[in-house]
Amino acid sequence: MPDKTWWKNGIVYQIYPRSYQDSNNDGIGDLEGIRRRLDYIAELGVNAVWISPIFPSPMADFGYDIADYCGIEPIFGTIEDFDRLIGEVHARGLKMILDFVPNHTSDQHPWFGESRRSKSNPKRDWYIWRDPKPDGSPPNNWISNFGGSAWSFDDATGQYYYHAFLAEQPDLNWRNPEVREAMHDALRFWLRRGVDGFRVDVIWHLMKDPEMRDNPPDPNYKPGRPEIDSLQQVYSNGHHDIYGVVNGMRRVLEEFDERVLIGEIYLPVERLVTYYGTAELPGAHLPFNFQLIFAPWKPEALAKMIEEYESLLPEGGWPNWVLGNHDQKRIAARIGQDQARVAAMLLLTLRGTPTMYYGDEIGMAYVDIPPEAVQDPWERNEPGLGFNRDPQRTPMQWDSSAHAGFSTATPWLPVSPRYPEQNVEALSSDSGSILNLYRKLVAARRQHQALSIGSFRLLHSEGDLLSYERQHGDQRVVIFLNLGGGEVEAQLPESRTGAVVVSTLGEPREEKLGNSFILRPHEGLIVSE
Ligand code: GLC
Ligand code: CA
Repeated sequence: MPDKTWWKNGIVYQIYPRSYQDSNNDGIGDLEGIRRRLDYIAELGVNAVWISPIFPSPMADFGYDIADYCGIEPIFGTIEDFDRLIGEVHARGLKMILDFVPNHTSDQHPWFGESRRSKSNPKRDWYIWRDPKPDGSPPNNWISNFGGSAWSFDDATGQYYYHAFLAEQPDLNWRNPEVREAMHDALRFWLRRGVDGFRVDVIWHLMKDPEMRDNPPDPNYKPGRPEIDSLQQVYSNGHHDIYGVVNGMRRVLEEFDERVLIGEIYLPVERLVTYYGTAELPGAHLPFNFQLIFAPWKPEALAKMIEEYESLLPEGGWPNWVLGNHDQKRIAARIGQDQARVAAMLLLTLRGTPTMYYGDEIGMAYVDIPPEAVQDPWERNEPGLGFNRDPQRTPMQWDSSAHAGFSTATPWLPVSPRYPEQNVEALSSDSGSILNLYRKLVAARRQHQALSIGSFRLLHSEGDLLSYERQHGDQRVVIFLNLGGGEVEAQLPESRTGAVVVSTLGEPREEKLGNSFILRPHEGLIVSE
């Protein structure tokens, strides 16, 4: 019996709400804007939308600093807008995934307001407070992910508080049972409103070394890298108590039907897979697999990575793949427009749930952000290292009108200058566009169960060619990817012949293939028997 679980069969589509569609022309995207674009999303053929944080926030880190877990940020709309949006999402047969940020709150969250008031405040222990060292310096050497010490001194009570990110994002103390209860209730608040699951922000960060020992230096550190990389993050995150915490969230989701728990985790693959948990202590359904973001774009490297991941998955662990998100340079900026099409085919034909990032389907790439337009707090703290996240957060390009149809006001980040040609409207009417390629790939995945839930067998990974087979029952589909700019000879296994289901190239090619054939430069093919 095929497994019908929606998040195994489906495709997740990530929306960065500030940049999708502005409905009230203040230059910032909002919930009503997303609602107006639901037909587009449904036509893409994806199954679920994940929306980056939409909760009340001072926006020090653009919503990843939450001041109220059970409300809607007025910039994005109202709770009524939210209810309307989720109603229409569900009416189209789509699922809605929200972004849960449990590691830290905003410093403007009332909990932190209380916690910092006095050492004896009942919420003091909801955050991580420590005395200075005798010389007044921070309690340990931990560094913020955005640069500088991870500790900020609070004059009023003479202690430091810990923040893995900005000083405006104090870390919650997940060792305190009251914190866990309050956060579980926040999850229930949205689950009761019909939310189908959560993407949990930096989930591996939640549990730190209880003794808060110094992190060891990283001998491979080179100047020019972010300061956080100068230390190995041995003690500041990923303490083994994390598995109980993840399981706690999983159990809350299991109070409801068919909800999904996705974890944001940047760890080496052998540690990543431990976040699936065990039979006794189940963890995340989908620990995000970011390996495609970092792997060299070479057949051998990709093949090795895929096989290693497949072999490390625990019993019952369902794979997943991510090409990009709001924190990472876009795929088309990393490997170019030609290969971005090949990457789309890879993402949508690997075994496991794919997550697409808004705008990748129209080939959005790098957008230059002039210094005076920089928004990302990380870039402001550590300028010029090349880690600005703004270029992957620019407004969605809908049409060729002013500001790409995103807004009539000046958008909060610049629109790509390529928008007059590179927009949804223009690419929709071009049958060979990347947008229509994405649509074909999604449709092929829906048509062929071999692609969505079939097994995976690597066939070839030398030179510029990566090929593999997906099989479900007696349905077999072979994928050929030319990762280079020259022609490549390819062959179907076991003297078979086949028919082309999708080519990444705009120009059509012969549909019937003999046992061996030529892949054109940058061509990817899905071939059925
Ligand atoms: C996650 C988010 C990122 C944010 C950070 C702190 O990595 O994806 O955007 O800055 O957590 O919340
Ligand atoms: Ca708006």
